[in-house]
Amino acid sequence: MDNLVALAKRRGFVFQSSEIYGGLNGFFDYGPLGAELKKNIRDCWWNDMVRRRDDIVGIETSIIMHPKVWEASGHVAGFTDPLVDCKVSKQRYRADQLFFAAVIVDGKTVGYVSALESENTAGELQAAAESFKRKKAVQGQLSPVHAKDMTEAQPDEIALIPSPATGEPGSLTPPRAFNMMFETYVGALRDDSAKSYLRPETAQGMFVDFKNVVDTGRVRLPFGIAQIGKSFRNEITPRNFIFRSREFEQMEMEYFIHEDADWAKCHQEWIDWCRSWLISIGLPESHLSLYAHPKEKLAFYSKGTVDIMFKYPFGVQELWGIAARGNYDLGQHAAASGKPQEIFDEATKKKFVPHVIEPAVGVDRIFLAVLCAAYVEDEAPDEKGKLEKRTVLRLSPRIAPLKVAVLPLLKNKDALVARAKELYAKLKRRYAVFYDEAGAIGRRYRRQDEIGTPWCVTIDFETIEKDGTFTLRERDSMTQKRINEAELFALLEEQVY
Ligand code: GAP
Repeated sequence: MDNLVALAKRRGFVFQSSEIYGGLNGFFDYGPLGAELKKNIRDCWWNDMVRRRDDIVGIETSIIMHPKVWEASGHVAGFTDPLVDCKVSKQRYRADQLFFAAVIVDGKTVGYVSALESENTAGELQAAAESFKRKKAVQGQLSPVHAKDMTEAQPDEIALIPSPATGEPGSLTPPRAFNMMFETYVGALRDDSAKSYLRPETAQGMFVDFKNVVDTGRVRLPFGIAQIGKSFRNEITPRNFIFRSREFEQMEMEYFIHEDADWAKCHQEWIDWCRSWLISIGLPESHLSLYAHPKEKLAFYSKGTVDIMFKYPFGVQELWGIAARGNYDLGQHAAASGKPQEIFDEATKKKFVPHVIEPAVGVDRIFLAVLCAAYVEDEAPDEKGKLEKRTVLRLSPRIAPLKVAVLPLLKNKDALVARAKELYAKLKRRYAVFYDEAGAIGRRYRRQDEIGTPWCVTIDFETIEKDGTFTLRERDSMTQKRINEAELFALLEEQVY
């Protein structure tokens, strides 16, 4: 992860936001290559989800909506995370990410240990318990620790659990609900009447505009409304680089179905679609798994939620949630606005509120997943044939920030440079490409490998003196072959879609 973060900074993928002022925790900027990569992820999703389908339309709704939207959706009352404060260090923790365990020796509790959630929380708690027993010189048999998070702590336990910041008990508060919505004021007044929120999800835009789309969009059930846009959550503990941030981008789609439709079948179809889509942009199947939320943890209206999980370097984490939400959202907005959110069923001549399946994913999380999966350190021969370390991003051509680098073999040969620039200009009309004439050819290849450019083309003497073909060098295999311009465009047409 450290190598990846360093590469992201060094090659202009991701920067800390406001870095010259020390950064702002939970906010990030995307540099020139990062902006391209992110745009390609968005474009692939939009093309596959909206343009290439007949049953889904796209919209773009405002980030700040009427505050009643968030009352009706349940966010004002319930969009909370459990928060624990350390009164001494002033650190704040998400209660479900702060773990503790009783230290039990010969069946008797002799103290408590704590650890922040990690890949090996149980192991860290066990080590802390052993260390506690040693330090306190407690004799006897230590039981294996049983990890719980702070939402499960009993009132009499809280005072005994050490704060991770100080290592001492007595400073942690009981968990309390912390609303994650960013508040703002609309207009000149700064009172409650002007209070609104930055949206914490794009989904409500689709529900609130449901009727507008139905009345204007020539859609018929089953159909979907999709949107890509920024969302904001005042996360208690933004972490793992861009995995959990306070400003992020979502790609969400609400797929409306008949109230009598087989929702479980439709839910499964969307789980399969999302998984295949992730594979189509280059995520390895071996890194993907499914997690079905247990029934008892679902919201009362939810029929089922399955998350597509990704194996990040810091653990297996949620990438894409696919939820069957019944007709809760449209029902809530109908009740709160007094405007029915129904569809007329020609067959039964009755009106009903459609149900919805919602695949919701974060662009930044996909961005991080593709970088993690693509990052490889291998070896390549240098100019003299000696093997040297090579860093390569094995990005799918679909999303790679640059598709081709055009390289004249020598920069002081006018004919080579002229032909290379001509090809570069032609490619540039359709694709993000790069022209590079600086340095030895091997070094130039290496620079492109590191940023994931799938192909380099080298214009050499054969190109100008013989048949016009040039060398196509492939990033992953490092193999080279000669192709002509028409073949290059055909390759790009097939691989970049
Ligand atoms: N409308 C449903 C919804 O927003 P969610 O599980 O809260 O559901 C959907 O969010 C997706 O948005 C997540 O699966 C994740 O990919 C992304 N996401 C959520 N919170 C995020 C955060 N703080 N930073 C980055 N991505 C986030």
